[in-house]
Amino acid sequence: MKILITGGAGFIGSHVVRLFVNKYSNYQIYNLDKLTYAGNLANLTDIEGKPNYTFIKGDIVDADFINKLFAEHKFNAVIHLAAESHVDRSISNPLEFVYTNVIGTVNLLNAAKTTPDFKLFYHVSTDEVYGSLGDTGMFTETTAYDPHSPYSASKASSDHFVRAYHDTYKLPVVISNCSNNYGPYHFPEKLIPLCINNIKNNKPLPIYGKGENVRDWLFVEDHARAIDVIFHKAKHGSTYNIGGHNEWTNIAVIRLLCRIMDKKLNRAAGANEKLITFVKDRAGHDLRYAIDSTKLQNDLGWKPSLQFEEGLEKTVDWYLANDEWLDNVTSGSYQKYYESQYVKR
Ligand code: NAD
Ligand code: TYD
Repeated sequence: MKILITGGAGFIGSHVVRLFVNKYSNYQIYNLDKLTYAGNLANLTDIEGKPNYTFIKGDIVDADFINKLFAEHKFNAVIHLAAESHVDRSISNPLEFVYTNVIGTVNLLNAAKTTPDFKLFYHVSTDEVYGSLGDTGMFTETTAYDPHSPYSASKASSDHFVRAYHDTYKLPVVISNCSNNYGPYHFPEKLIPLCINNIKNNKPLPIYGKGENVRDWLFVEDHARAIDVIFHKAKHGSTYNIGGHNEWTNIAVIRLLCRIMDKKLNRAAGANEKLITFVKDRAGHDLRYAIDSTKLQNDLGWKPSLQFEEGLEKTVDWYLANDEWLDNVTSGSYQKYYESQYVKR
């Protein structure tokens, strides 16, 4: 089996590549990544020399390149994670999200549909396609799509194309929609790694609005395990929601992080909380996400392995032990971009 994993140098993709390369020595894993600001081969140094692993640098938006790549390698399956993934960037530059998330996905679908002996196109998506919840309720696989940000609109569009290729061309596909991930190798523009890095450097912790927005957090290795199970067992044409049953307001997450890091950095209790700074809210900020993953748990026997407190502590330990990784990614231009976004309330 030759499997193309796209976006394998990113946060979640690197965990999926690692799991598949280590667990399935009989599969040939090809990691296709453009290495945007979010892609980093340092995420994969532990497996780069493995005989069943090949890295390919390339852009999924380039249809000719993608068609040639499929013609050359005749992949049997795709696990598609490559995407522009940050909501704030989608607000500043929506078109980039249309190119990669929509056109890039359709290019891969076109190439897959003409490849002989093609077994499965696995599309990795997000719970954000379902929109925003009020105080109660959860997203199930039948919740109507209602995206609000350019990011979630582009992911929703790509999900529709994947289903359309199943219905129109009988392409074997599966889709999963997952909640917010956290863990090692998370790019420090996203809430948790940004705040870990800022606490470490005694810098302000920018909380949008009042910090009352709720997200359902899942440890990234649990997501990778869910992708493995769905890839091997799901019925073609099906969708699975993946989530941690683990809802937290942003402010509660950051307070917990501050307490964990007070201890880890030998600071006085409450010292890090003083860094919390409320800033102007994100435009169109979804209030609450919550995933019902009963179908995945009942049908395929997956469940999250870590409690949030345990997973967050493990994540902090990883970032503190990997200064070099963090310094390398934060020395780039992204930091300036971020600082320019914050307006103190
Ligand atoms: P990420 O931004 O960390 O990584 C994305 C990767 O895709 C990077 O390595 C980047 O270089 C690559 N890439 C971007 N544009 C490309 C292009 N045109 N051609 C080839 N490669 C390209 O993202 P992530 O957080 O790891 O998310 C991976 C996938 O999972 C995305 O599809 C995202 O929508 C989805 N997802 C993410 C979360 C989350 O909490 N992070 C939750 C649910 C679903
Ligand atoms: P983020 O990590 O960007 O993930 P997503 O937008 O995909 O959920 O943000 C998680 C939550 O944290 C979201 O409600 C926005 C909020 N947030 C802040 O309050 N401050 C920040 O600096 C960032 C990046 C996010």
